[in-house]
Amino acid sequence: MKIGVFDSGIGGLSVVNAIKKELPELDIVFKNDKEHLPYGSKTTDQLLSLSRPVLESLVDDGCEVIVIACNSVSTNIIDDLREVIDVPLIAMEPMVKPAAELTKTNTIAVCATPATLASNRYRFLKEEYAKGVKVLEPNCSNWSSMIENNEIDHDNIKDLTNKVCEEGADVIVLGCTHYHWIEEEIAQIAQGRAVIIQPEKPVIEQLKRVLEQLS
Ligand code: DGL
Repeated sequence: MKIGVFDSGIGGLSVVNAIKKELPELDIVFKNDKEHLPYGSKTTDQLLSLSRPVLESLVDDGCEVIVIACNSVSTNIIDDLREVIDVPLIAMEPMVKPAAELTKTNTIAVCATPATLASNRYRFLKEEYAKGVKVLEPNCSNWSSMIENNEIDHDNIKDLTNKVCEEGADVIVLGCTHYHWIEEEIAQIAQGRAVIIQPEKPVIEQLKRVLEQLS
C-alpha cells in the first residue's frame, strides 16, 4: 500500500523513519514544502493554500492515506483539509492529554510553533485535558528553521530546557515534528527532571488502524 507523509520540511522525515521501522512493507511518498518553511509563522489561510496542492498531488500519486506530519497544519486546518482531500488524513498534535496525566508536579511544558500555540485546537486540548495544570510555552519560534538549516543553537536548547525544568515542568511535550531531531539532546539536558514525549508512536498506531480498515 502507498501512503503519503507531508510536512513543511525535515520534521516529516523523522516521522517517515519511525513509520518505516514499524511498517517496513509500506511504500511511503514523502513531500515537504521547504520553499515556504517555516509553517509555524503562517496564517491559517496561508497554511491551507500552501498545503492543499501538495496533499492533492499525493492523492494523484496514488497515496491511500496521508499522515500530516506537521502540528502547525494539523492543529489549524485539519477539518478544512478533510473536506477537500479524498483520502483519510492522520493528524499530529501536541500530546497535552498524556502530559497532563503524567505530570506529578502539575506543570508541563509544550514546545511548539507560534501557529500551533495560537490554534483553536491547542486551546481546546488545554481546556479539555489540562485544566488546573500549569502549561509552560517556551519561545521556540526559531527552532524549526534552526533545525531545517542545521544551525543548531545548543546553548539556546540548553537554556530553554533548563528554564522549564527549573520552573517545575516534569513533562516536556514536543509539539513540532522538527523538534524530534533534537529529542535526545533535550532528554539529556532534562535527565532526572523531566521526560520528553512526542506523538510518533500513537500516530503509527492510528495509521495501523486506518490501514486495517482500508484492507
Ligand atoms: N514541523 C512542523 C510542525 O510540526 C512545522 C515547522 C515549521 O515549518 O515551522 O509544526
